[in-house]
Amino acid sequence: MSPAIPTFGSGPRHPASGPTSLGQPPRALPPSAYLDQEVYEKEIEQLFHSSWVLVGHATEVESPGDYFTCEIAGQSLFVVRTPEDGLKAFYNVCQHRAHELLKDSGSVRAIVCPYHAWTYNLDGRLRKAPNQQRVPGFDADRICLTGIRLESLCGFLFVNLDETAPPLAEAYGDLEAQFRAYVPEGERLRRLRRVSLVENCNWKVSVENYSECYHCQVAHPAFTRGVVAAKSYRIEPQDHCLRHLAEAAPAEKAWYDRKSLGEAEGYSSWYLWPLSSIQVYPGGVVNLYRWIPEGTGRTRILRDWYFMDGEASDDQLAAADQDRETTVAEDVRIVESVQRGLASKGYRPGPLMVDPSGGVNSEHSLVALQIWWHEAMGRP
Ligand code: FES
Ligand SMILES: [Fe+2]
Repeated sequence: MSPAIPTFGSGPRHPASGPTSLGQPPRALPPSAYLDQEVYEKEIEQLFHSSWVLVGHATEVESPGDYFTCEIAGQSLFVVRTPEDGLKAFYNVCQHRAHELLKDSGSVRAIVCPYHAWTYNLDGRLRKAPNQQRVPGFDADRICLTGIRLESLCGFLFVNLDETAPPLAEAYGDLEAQFRAYVPEGERLRRLRRVSLVENCNWKVSVENYSECYHCQVAHPAFTRGVVAAKSYRIEPQDHCLRHLAEAAPAEKAWYDRKSLGEAEGYSSWYLWPLSSIQVYPGGVVNLYRWIPEGTGRTRILRDWYFMDGEASDDQLAAADQDRETTVAEDVRIVESVQRGLASKGYRPGPLMVDPSGGVNSEHSLVALQIWWHEAMGRP
């Protein structure tokens, strides 16, 4: 179910919404939601470790033994391709005395722990431990790495640390069909660029900034000239997804030659609660925006850029750098300023600018985020 777009006077009510008298718009969350360690620790359990999180693409682990590591709020994980069973995901921890097993990404024939050389098959079963034959009662057959749920969508890989969570297909509305309308064969995408950076802010400050375009015309002159036509920008909640849509910027101002890129003309992105977003820039240029919380006031951002069969022209590749130097840099300054402001004794959370008719200048999408946040944090 999508949350209804709230209107003045009928917006959702919760303890953080401020005054509840008729006619008051919902308010921004209180500073404690962004600053308190206790809140953050609850988010780790009830959100980050209970939600689907986008971690990469199947073309990054193409042959048996290929793997990449990833992290969800302090939990180190890895995805590996096995010879028989396809892709699997595990916690990145040895079952002997807890050393981490794999680093970064690469290819292995077996998983060998760097501490005492316990060796695991690619499917996670322990193959052998040095000196095992002399240890009474040691049973290698009973030892296996701890697996986690892994699902794919158009080649993109998602993991969920919650064994009881509903399937990925139920989380984000009609995501697959919508994405295929822009990129019919997402399985052929290959990552050519990764931009990694740290924002000194709470993850929600960054996600909220990502989830509204009220600031776009003020803060992002390059994006609103060279990528999208700002006035056409709109955001629609669907299940636990915020769908962003916009018309492309006029061709003569575009960052790159869109004609050679395929049929998709407009801009679309799907923010996937809580930590992932898939974006399609005009012309079918696919890139990800991922949030990796590293503490109450620190969030790593990963921007991955994908191209069909790994083929891209110089100006298409340059779009990743241009994006880093303009939109991303502009947002870093914004979110770090907001994080400092949240600690100010003078800040009283203000009204969200919810326009019942939607549009680029409406913050109704932030209310959807609040609903999802309260839903997760309110669980016993
Ligand atoms: S901790 Fe891995 S082999 Fe000892
Ligand atoms: Fe922004």
